[in-house]
Amino acid sequence: MPNGRSTPKLGRILENEPSVSFQPPGFPVDDRPVYDSYIAGRRSAALAVAVRTGLFETVEELGEASVADVRARHGWKERPTRSLLIALSAAGLLTRTRDRFALTESARAYALRGRPGSLAALIDLEIEHFLTPHHLLTALESDDASVYGGDDPWESHEADPAQARAFTEAMHAVSGRPAAGFAARARLAEGARLLDVGGGSGALSIALAAARSDVRCTVFDLAVVCGVADEKIREAGLEDRVTTLAGDMFAPRWPTGHDAVLLSQILHDWSFDTGRELLRRAFDALTPGGSVLIHEKLVDDERDAPLANALVHLDMLVWTKGQQYRFGELRDLLVQVGFDDVSAESTGGYWTLVQARKPEPR
Ligand SMILES: C[S@@+](CC[C@H](N)C(=O)[O-])C[C@H]1O[C@@H](n2cnc3c(N)ncnc32)[C@H](O)[C@@H]1O
Repeated sequence: MPNGRSTPKLGRILENEPSVSFQPPGFPVDDRPVYDSYIAGRRSAALAVAVRTGLFETVEELGEASVADVRARHGWKERPTRSLLIALSAAGLLTRTRDRFALTESARAYALRGRPGSLAALIDLEIEHFLTPHHLLTALESDDASVYGGDDPWESHEADPAQARAFTEAMHAVSGRPAAGFAARARLAEGARLLDVGGGSGALSIALAAARSDVRCTVFDLAVVCGVADEKIREAGLEDRVTTLAGDMFAPRWPTGHDAVLLSQILHDWSFDTGRELLRRAFDALTPGGSVLIHEKLVDDERDAPLANALVHLDMLVWTKGQQYRFGELRDLLVQVGFDDVSAESTGGYWTLVQARKPEPR
């Protein structure tokens, strides 16, 4: 400080600081929307490093940790340790009392590994697959998934079980919390048999079977992914009612005998035309009166809200051939292939469950 006074600790740096930023002569427009977008990537980086290194586990184990405590555990240098802890505190992931840091409620619930609903495996994938400006530039020019150097992501997973596992664990993490909302919202008849197409780790099927002892689920995915799902199903003790089936969702026909089909984060991986094709297969596979359930992070009519879902458009550019959907687009596709009774409900956070019915013959 120019006058030598110490800086107050709380949010505002200056006493009596006005809530509206001072705009100096010649610069009447607030720069913060642009500057805040520029700086936002540092927040993700700090979070990913804290997850990968187990920093959150360290702080939780110690209850409250000082810079010296963290250094003693992780062997890091003083200046970077302090900077990381302060950045995480500014981001609302740690609380700070003088020089001691503790987890916020949100970090405790969702950033520690191994807890139900933890996002740690999703965040961890950022270390290898952070969406850089360079990736985005490549996607703009190629309009194709570039995450594995231009190779088809699903073929890459089939060829590399470690990659398939990391991705499937990430999906398990992102789906964990909304899966509970899905299980509570799914409208299924007594004793329903659900086909979970591209079911990944089986997160949604597992949550559904745990909530509904009358329901049976089949997780239908690539063989390399079914192996991971089998482990999750065993861990949940649900082998008797959740099974896996290795196969290709682009095969002309899907397994029949199901009265519900779930597509969770599947349609957003593909073009609208492919999405319509997948819904047609769902329609053909279902028994009359059966239902299709689509679980996605939807965007509003202008596609730019909520911000978190609008930003997922960019992930889709880099990872897939798809985009985030609007409710109206899903409803139109469903009606085009013959479904009726289309409805949408929140399953929590940024997620929506769209349900529709295959009409009974008249
Ligand atoms: C974005 S993940 C969604 C996983 C899961 N449904 C969820 O919401 O957590 C897409 C899934 O589709 C699967 N998939 C991709 N191509 C497939 C294919 N041709 N046949 C079957 N599954 C496929 C992937 O292996 C992956 O598990």
